[in-house]
Amino acid sequence: MTTRINPSILAADFANLEHELGRIASADLVHVDVMDNHFVPNLTFGLQMVGRLQQVSPIPLDVHLMIDDPERWAPGYAETGAFSVTFHAEATTDPVALARRLREIGARAGIALKPGTAVEPYLELLPEFDQVLVMTVEPGFGGQSFMAETMPKLDRLASTVRETGLDVWLQVDGGISLDTIGIAAEAGANTFVAGSAVFGAEVPAERIAELRDAASAHTHTHR
Ligand code: DX5
Ligand code: ZN
Repeated sequence: MTTRINPSILAADFANLEHELGRIASADLVHVDVMDNHFVPNLTFGLQMVGRLQQVSPIPLDVHLMIDDPERWAPGYAETGAFSVTFHAEATTDPVALARRLREIGARAGIALKPGTAVEPYLELLPEFDQVLVMTVEPGFGGQSFMAETMPKLDRLASTVRETGLDVWLQVDGGISLDTIGIAAEAGANTFVAGSAVFGAEVPAERIAELRDAASAHTHTHR
């Protein structure tokens, strides 16, 4: 089973993003947190900025949209060449239509669930998605503590993926560190977003390798 480490540039130096991207070139994807100050009480990057990051990044972009009205904005991120575009379940009434649109454009489609959002209604929609992002903190800010109470959702997702044989990546985001990544891997996650854990390290590339090892050590081989 493949373990993916996606550093979040939310924890990077915003004045030196091209340089920061170079420091995480050994990662699988770069996680880009788009926040609109409405869906979450914080504001980050928009389409123009993400398009430019796409041009200079050594690795593909994993865009996480924490925004209202994803129908209006998400397709633009797919058109700019993002590898994956993930929108929030809580922000849309027709997740399937939006996922189909993203796939049509050529991006992988992801759906994100806040800690308080139940996973059950989405299990039957899994064939429509390439990835499910289980938030392990309340979205909006980096550097928060991992919420272990979200792990039963990963268990449910991992069993459904196993039973159906679907190729859906299971992503966790928030508070992932050397201390917590094993818990999430054990529960069935295979794609790990880490902001402060990676950019807070003296040598991000070394931390990426350590996180990868820690996750793999806890991964069930039958998954
Ligand atoms: C939070 C963002 C995360 C954030 C994670 O709303 O979605 O991607 O960057 O940061 P850490 O790893 O520091 O919790
Ligand atoms: Zn994120």
